[in-house]
Amino acid sequence: MQVALITGGSAGIGRAAALEIARSGVGVVLTYRRHAAEAMATVAEIEAAGGTAAALPLDIGDLASFDGFAERVAKTLRDGFGVDRLRHLVNNAGVGGGAPFGEVSEELFDDLHRTLFRGPYFLTQRLLPLLEDGGTIVNTGSTSALDTGIEAGYSAYAAQKAAVHVLTRVWAKELAPRRIRVNAVAPGTTRTRIGDDVFERMPELVAQWGEQAAFGRIGEPEDVGRVIAFLVGDASAWVTGQVVEVSGGQGL
Ligand SMILES: NC(=O)c1ccc[n+]([C@@H]2O[C@H](COP(=O)([O-])OP(=O)(O)OC[C@H]3O[C@@H](n4cnc5c(N)ncnc54)[C@H](OP(=O)(O)O)[C@@H]3O)[C@@H](O)[C@H]2O)c1
Repeated sequence: MQVALITGGSAGIGRAAALEIARSGVGVVLTYRRHAAEAMATVAEIEAAGGTAAALPLDIGDLASFDGFAERVAKTLRDGFGVDRLRHLVNNAGVGGGAPFGEVSEELFDDLHRTLFRGPYFLTQRLLPLLEDGGTIVNTGSTSALDTGIEAGYSAYAAQKAAVHVLTRVWAKELAPRRIRVNAVAPGTTRTRIGDDVFERMPELVAQWGEQAAFGRIGEPEDVGRVIAFLVGDASAWVTGQVVEVSGGQGL
């Protein structure tokens, strides 16, 4: 059985990707940070549909925990799935957040850097020995780092996502000898729990942000989850080093 590790699978885009990938018959190990109950609910939903899944805690900002995390992943693969390697890694866990450039604190900058770039960078390095040759890595970038999505107030966030887009291309080159494909999705504004539930707290923003897309609405987690599943699957076997915008035509 192939198994995918999806960071941040307790909510939003990661949860949608986990459900979609599981539907294709791939086993899923998803991670959560604060929302254990939601992670278990996603596992239960996958199992109810006939799939196989497990959930593990992970703080992507805590590099010191990665050795222990990798050991727990290896044990979960053996005990829960009967395999010793991961086939796919989806680096999705993350947060939102911004401030006008003049007000960006070192704390906000460092938090975004740790969570969005440094964490997935070194977690992937740590998990490389566990990843099968011929497998895939999918990173979650953002339109905030593309010409179509430049917005005032997001310099620190967008810069981390730009770094994710760049490392996607470099890893694709570097891991090609192992036939590991590396791609990224760049979601536009998507209705998740991001920004402390910003879409629940400020529903008036939903219509406003929706107008930025050619299709006139914001994205739903499934819109992005389906594309992540495509980049994991064999239908994209000839695709590597790409950043795929998933935004309903933002900025067109
Ligand atoms: N929504 C958008 O408009 C949008 C647009 C472009 C890119 N993105 C990117 O999409 C990715 C997924 O975000 P989302 O929109 O789906 O948000 P979400 O609904 O808030 O989900 C975020 C997920 O990441 C996990 N997470 C948060 N901080 C973490 C940490 N320090 N360590 C480990 N896991 C952590 C959360 O776990 P717990 O809930 O268990 O704490 C949750 O599973 C992020 O990388 C985000 O930057 C989102």
